[in-house]
Amino acid sequence: MPVPPTSPLPTATTPPRFPAGFLWGAATSAYQVEGAVAEDGRTPSIWDTFCRTPGKVFQGHTGEIAVDHYHRFREDVRLMAELGLTAYRFSVSWPRVQPTGRGPAAKPGLDFYRRLADELLSHGITPVATLYHWDLPQELESAGGWPERATAERFAEYAALVGEALGDRVGHWTTLNEPWCSAFLGYGSGVHAPGRTDPVAALRAAHHLNLGHGLAVDALRGVLPASAKVSVSLNLHALRPLTPSAADRDAVRRIDAVGNRVFLGPLLEGAYPEDLLADTAHLTDWSFVRTGDATRIHRALDWLGVNYYTPTVVSTAAEGAAPAREDGHGGGTASPWPGADRIGFHAAPGERTAMGWAVDATGLHQLLTDLTDRYPGLPLIVSENGAAYVDRGGEDGTVDDPERTAYLHAHLAAVHRAAADGADVRGYFAWSLMDNFEWAYGYDKRFGLVHVDFPTQTRTPKASARWYARVARSGELHPPA
Ligand code: FCB
Repeated sequence: MPVPPTSPLPTATTPPRFPAGFLWGAATSAYQVEGAVAEDGRTPSIWDTFCRTPGKVFQGHTGEIAVDHYHRFREDVRLMAELGLTAYRFSVSWPRVQPTGRGPAAKPGLDFYRRLADELLSHGITPVATLYHWDLPQELESAGGWPERATAERFAEYAALVGEALGDRVGHWTTLNEPWCSAFLGYGSGVHAPGRTDPVAALRAAHHLNLGHGLAVDALRGVLPASAKVSVSLNLHALRPLTPSAADRDAVRRIDAVGNRVFLGPLLEGAYPEDLLADTAHLTDWSFVRTGDATRIHRALDWLGVNYYTPTVVSTAAEGAAPAREDGHGGGTASPWPGADRIGFHAAPGERTAMGWAVDATGLHQLLTDLTDRYPGLPLIVSENGAAYVDRGGEDGTVDDPERTAYLHAHLAAVHRAAADGADVRGYFAWSLMDNFEWAYGYDKRFGLVHVDFPTQTRTPKASARWYARVARSGELHPPA
């Protein structure tokens, strides 16, 4: 994909201004923050199981306590209000509200999200609920998980049940968070739960996540007021060829197919891309896609959520050569890229975060403007963006994180430029509100605006949080101090 032209940078004297009503948010997800994994009837999710499997998560860390958001949500909402946030994106834990993944809801689980939504509303903060941020009830994985069609059907039932319970308070809904990770890291490379390494299972999972999304959109619309907004959040890959060669440009096409268009195609255009089917034909004939699925998946959306962290640089390795695998997805010996065995992944040039991810805000501009070109008029939200750094705590108890502030500033400037170039961007959610359980990296990587001292659970807004608060309050992108 060529890098699109950009509009001129605003001058230093006039901070870029975002429109009134732009959502200034921060995001978290249930398993990463809630803890309380065995309370009020919650059953294990695939992440509880994965964390207990030796060697899967950094130093055997788990989300058992996480940052205790389940008990401390009032304090956390107060912090959000102090930071001037106007929206909070959280996820609902499926095994907390429907412990066996089927059948009736668990009232205490739903009550937690009712209290959370009420607390947010009483502080003037818009709740944005994600139904699935990777914590499949273990019972459903034991029955086959996302590679099986039944899981998509269960997901729609769960969506109806949560929509019905919370629809009077929550007006913004997201079906899935990053189905690419669920399918390809969960069932392909196995670095995420449930840790399977089967390329066909990964493709089947991708389809059933798409189907689950479509069925859930209908299920939500069936129970929510007409004013409710429904979306999905994708981690789209901002792709660059390593060199301008035809082979490297073909690498971009392939990874665009299995990384981006495997979702964008069915969700927004009503079909899987022909080249994806061809690239994976040696693995599967895709006969798990049934007649009518295209329509079931292709439902009207009120916005598309874009999660972006870093660009992806790809090449095609010479015949017989081992391709580079610096794709930022936590290693593992199996590939998360079915049908793309000869594709090499390279770190983009420049400064890196503690994840080893290159800092390059032009990738965000590229995604937002490319999406606008491809789907004119589609409202967009940046539903995740942020960076992990090794933060420095001062003796006075403050936490100074100038790199994070610079990262957020550069990426918000890219959002503003994309809007000036025609993208309809309605909001921005920093990942994350606070330090938390970073999946296979455990508590080793800190993405928070708010520092959490894990042993005491003390919350301390970092300098980046103070800066972000100033931006959110004024709607103006002030330069970092
Ligand atoms: C995204 C996930 C989120 C968090 C960030 C760093 O892929 O959606 O939960 O782990 O990465």
